[in-house]
Amino acid sequence: MSTPTRTPLIAGNWKMNGSLGDARTWAEAAAAAAAASANDVAVFPPAPWLMAVGGSLADAGGGVTLGGQACAWEAAGAFTGAVAASMLAEAGCRMVLCGHSERRHVFGERDADVAGGLARALEAGLEPILCVGETLEEREAGQTEAVILRQLDAGLACLRSAEDPLTIAYEPVWAIGTGKAATPVEAAAAHASLRARVAETDAERAARVRILYGGSANPDNMGGFLEVSDVDGLLIGGASLDPAKFAAMVGYTPAG
Ligand code: PGA
Repeated sequence: MSTPTRTPLIAGNWKMNGSLGDARTWAEAAAAAAAASANDVAVFPPAPWLMAVGGSLADAGGGVTLGGQACAWEAAGAFTGAVAASMLAEAGCRMVLCGHSERRHVFGERDADVAGGLARALEAGLEPILCVGETLEEREAGQTEAVILRQLDAGLACLRSAEDPLTIAYEPVWAIGTGKAATPVEAAAAHASLRARVAETDAERAARVRILYGGSANPDNMGGFLEVSDVDGLLIGGASLDPAKFAAMVGYTPAG
């Protein structure tokens, strides 16, 4: 369970989905849900919709953080199709996903590429959400901890000071978009390892860093994750495309 110093973050990653009209509708619904919730809320729309979604969120009274789904490991230049961290910042983003599973496994980003993007994000004043997670093959080979700590280390090496913002997302690759979420026990173990690794170099950061779970999270299973220690929020794909489901998740309050 999140502590008073770690307000849960409920984040919707829309991936490559939705028309501009859909994006505006989803943004308005997210803002309405956020206004009635004690949780922090963020949405990650497709890049072409960022400024319009930012406008919709502002019109709805704010309260939802705008984020980019990825940024380039270079600051600018001849990189056709890529989006610079500074562009995301100018478009109104305050966060960016770094090393989402689909960036790593569909688009081939390596740890060094993810680290470069994270470094550019920090330079641009964005809060990176460093995504880590093992494949099914890696899990079955007993490599889960080694893989996620290697991915974490590559990101931590880019931090310039204790003040640099950072959120971590544990997203087992086999759980993303499959309907087969990790169990809360599996998530708790991974989150504890990640937090312990952060503590090796910065105990204060370890106490405050939010570690989100992602992978087939939905309104029915989310409580199980948010009740266990070290899970400080959710990164939600599929369920974030359904405004009613996302609103239910944004409005989650722990039992008792
Ligand atoms: P999912 O996606 O909720 O559809 O599994 C999670 C993610 O990719 O962040």
